Amino acid sequence: MVEPFSLPPGYKIQKFSQTFLDSLLYATTRGMAEIYIAEYRGEEVGRIVFVNTGAKYLIYVLNVSPEHRRKGIGSCLVQTVVRLADKPIYLSTYSAKNFYTRLGFTVEHEQEIFGFVYGYVMVLRPPA
Ligand SMILES: CC(C)(COP(=O)(O)OP(=O)(O)OC[C@H]1O[C@@H](n2cnc3c(N)ncnc32)[C@H](O)[C@@H]1OP(=O)(O)O)[C@@H](O)C(=O)NCCC(=O)NCCS
Repeated sequence: MVEPFSLPPGYKIQKFSQTFLDSLLYATTRGMAEIYIAEYRGEEVGRIVFVNTGAKYLIYVLNVSPEHRRKGIGSCLVQTVVRLADKPIYLSTYSAKNFYTRLGFTVEHEQEIFGFVYGYVMVLRPPA
């Protein structure tokens, strides 16, 4: 179970419509994406792009500006979409494996080439 997180003072998360998605992303996701922006004093400091592929969800982009990291913003962005999800949420990452593990995701399989692991496909399933 994912624990609740709270944003520090001054931060907020807003949902943006698909018109804010750039044309490449819109084309890639065929209009099935939702985007949530974390703001601090009116400036974007992070975003998550969440794609509904039908049977599964995909975290397509998660990014927090370096100077705003380690304050819980990334966790709150993930929790924003986890709360909405009634189907498994998948993602692929390498460096953020521990971050997602802390949020309840598990490794579905390792991505490797010539025996070298370069990424992890991770999943969080909704409660039964
Ligand atoms: C991964 C990423 C989104 C995390 O964002 P974040 O806002 O720093 O996330 P959080 O603050 O919620 O948690 C990150 C870490 O800070 C710690 N943390 C959370 N709240 C904290 C606080 N108030 N004070 C200090 N540390 C805190 C967490 O325990 C976690 O620790 P870890 O580094 O050992 O994993 C960010 O590092 C990033 O944008 N990285 C580059 C892009 C990337 O890797 N994206 C993910 C691929 S899908």
